[in-house]
Amino acid sequence: MKKFNYYNNIAQIYDQTRWLTDSVAEEVADFVLELTCATAETSFLEPGVGTGLNVLPLVKWGYCVTGIDISEEMLDQFRKKLDETPPNLKLIHSDASQLPFPDNSFDVVLTVHMIHAVSDWRGFLNEIDRVIKPKGLYLNCQWITPPARREFEGYLRGILSKREGSEQESKRLNAAIQEIDVEEYFRCKGYASNYFVAKEWTVNNTVEELLDFFKLRAYGLCWQVSDEVFHQVMKEFQDFCVERYGSLKKTLSSKAKFEIWAYSAV
Ligand SMILES: C[S@@+](CC[C@H](N)C(=O)[O-])C[C@H]1O[C@@H](n2cnc3c(N)ncnc32)[C@H](O)[C@@H]1O
Repeated sequence: MKKFNYYNNIAQIYDQTRWLTDSVAEEVADFVLELTCATAETSFLEPGVGTGLNVLPLVKWGYCVTGIDISEEMLDQFRKKLDETPPNLKLIHSDASQLPFPDNSFDVVLTVHMIHAVSDWRGFLNEIDRVIKPKGLYLNCQWITPPARREFEGYLRGILSKREGSEQESKRLNAAIQEIDVEEYFRCKGYASNYFVAKEWTVNNTVEELLDFFKLRAYGLCWQVSDEVFHQVMKEFQDFCVERYGSLKKTLSSKAKFEIWAYSAV
């Protein structure tokens, strides 16, 4: 199976260009253990596990974790964080649209920044519903972009939107994301839902750091135009940043949040 996925290109820079630190991930994992009343027998599945940022602490603490990802390169980055793959971790290189497990296999399924990546979100949620055990939990998680970074991205979006093809692509993506209604889906299936903020923390980056991350094309909004156009856009954006922020050394500081929508069968 070889389906193109941009994450193959950015696997090596994924962690450094995100804002979930190891210590925050540990605190969030602690929160998840409490929320799910986990025991040594609890089984976790993360489709779209990527480099393992979210579940690495669970693996280190001995919990049974299965991760699936369509990008072997992302999975390789996960493996590199461990001396060897321990017996409590299974990593599967596969398209998570069809989960290769029997019904009722997992106590907890979690997804983080993932649902929008599959082509058929309802089919994917059907699969999650199928593999969760009767009293299991689905955790739909996101660690939101800190507002100062979101504003920074917004300026770049503005410049990108003037380029041919980019605006249509970004409209198509936004429409696809907006159509996803996880809450309604699980309500219809008879699940009860609860919302939690597992952790809030401060993220600091200089404008220069963020520009460097974007120059590496680390984020989805950079993938909508050709290399040549992107190069021109970044030149224009750098000039804009000097004017807008006064100096590339300026630090942008704001709060990130790890949010969890927890769905349990009633
Ligand atoms: C934004 S990253 C999130 C990674 C990880 N969940 C995190 O929070 O850091 C999305 C991940 O989903 C994976 N992915 C995208 N489509 C997928 C699919 N159909 N099946 C399995 N994994 C997929 C990508 O390769 C990537 O690793």
